[in-house]
Amino acid sequence: MTVADIKPYVLLTGGLGYIGSHTVIKLIQRHYNVVIFDNLVNSKVETLSRIQEVLSVESPELSNDGLLFFQVDLRQLDDMKEIIEREFVGKNRRITSIIHFAGLKSVNESVKDPLLYYDYNFVSSLNLLKLVQAYQIHHFIFSSSATVYGDVTKFENPSEYLPLRENQTTKIPINPYGNTKHLVERLLEDYANSNPDFQVGILRYFNPIGAHPSHLIGEDPLNEPLNLLPIIANYSKLNKTLKVYGGDYQTKDGTCIRDYIHIEDLSRGHVLALNKLELLGPITISQQAELDMTVNYHEWNLGKGVGYSVLDIIKQWNKSTGIQVNYEIVPRRDGDVEILVADVEKSEKELGFICQFDLKDACQDLWGWTSHYFNSLKLEK
Ligand code: NAD
Ligand code: WQD
Repeated sequence: MTVADIKPYVLLTGGLGYIGSHTVIKLIQRHYNVVIFDNLVNSKVETLSRIQEVLSVESPELSNDGLLFFQVDLRQLDDMKEIIEREFVGKNRRITSIIHFAGLKSVNESVKDPLLYYDYNFVSSLNLLKLVQAYQIHHFIFSSSATVYGDVTKFENPSEYLPLRENQTTKIPINPYGNTKHLVERLLEDYANSNPDFQVGILRYFNPIGAHPSHLIGEDPLNEPLNLLPIIANYSKLNKTLKVYGGDYQTKDGTCIRDYIHIEDLSRGHVLALNKLELLGPITISQQAELDMTVNYHEWNLGKGVGYSVLDIIKQWNKSTGIQVNYEIVPRRDGDVEILVADVEKSEKELGFICQFDLKDACQDLWGWTSHYFNSLKLEK
């Protein structure tokens, strides 16, 4: 058997979740083989058929044999090893890269149950690094969050820190969820420092929104949606009144500002980051000695670099979908940060990452997906 006989795979943990599922489509369309590990704690197995449906509509020429799925919990190292031994080592397949999406993401829940979050987000990541070591996996991308920047608006001169640059993390995220992201970043940085042949990309997402332009797939959480835009979409369907949390922030209209990024741009950012890590490839210790120690550890913001207030979003929603969502301004929500906007210079320069979709596209795609989803529920009844 030669090296050429071994089929390379990218392992996507949490690949049936919102961001993971859109990234699976992008990777398959770029001819990667993908294996998904997901325990379905916040996703449904139907998402796999939705991925297949999008691929069959958009890329009928591609065969489906490059996509594998295993229901497994990342907290169970032995279960993951058993799958790899059985399905990869024993079948001439090899995992060459990992994109690690799996984790829990509710800030509120993390405050109520921090141990659950350390278990799901930190222990799982540690287990994955054990796989990296055991099976010599060279590339690793981690889903981090803008939450690791903490709240710079509490500093004396906030404008000095905005937009947020990768190298200016305050190292004081403001909740247990953010702490788990910060800690996993440090874990990966330490591991990268002692393993020059390991390339790691930390992707700090700002606010992902929208759905696939085909409207055949989008976010489908098991519980009530947590974020502003999915709430607006649901409330538009159900004719409920949106609560706008806080109208007294020091912003142009008193509501919080965020950097919203279309899921299509965000998922494409993962392909660019993976390509970059592959290009940098494993380097030798002597090569590393000649270079900067951080040459195999990279942090990239994935945002659009533009800030919109909550009221901007509501206006854009009404304009691009033709649906008026009712809203009322209520007191601030605990833990909200006034402004979060990305500096995108580094990701543009190093990854060639430039957003191609705007807020209007995101609203229309989210509305298209929500309508498709509600219709499919009616058909099921
Ligand atoms: P999601 O909940 O839709 O997807 C996460 C997926 O991981 C789900 O399919 C879930 O079943 C799976 N999962 C969770 N724990 C697991 C475990 N122990 N073993 C196996 N599978 C497990 O979330 P998402 O929005 O797609 O987010 C993906 C990642 O990006 C998360 O790590 C999240 O913290 C991070 N992130 C998300 C946002 C956002 O607003 N969506 C912003 C910043 C960062
Ligand atoms: C956006 C704005 C709310 C709902 C969270 C996590 C962050 C990351 C992304 C995972 C805020 C306002 C919201 C509503 C409102 N997740 N809002 N009424 O808070 O920026 O970020 O998701 O990593 O870590 O904290 O996103 O969509 O919840 O809120 O007024 O019903 O909309 O106050 O200003 P957020 P969001």
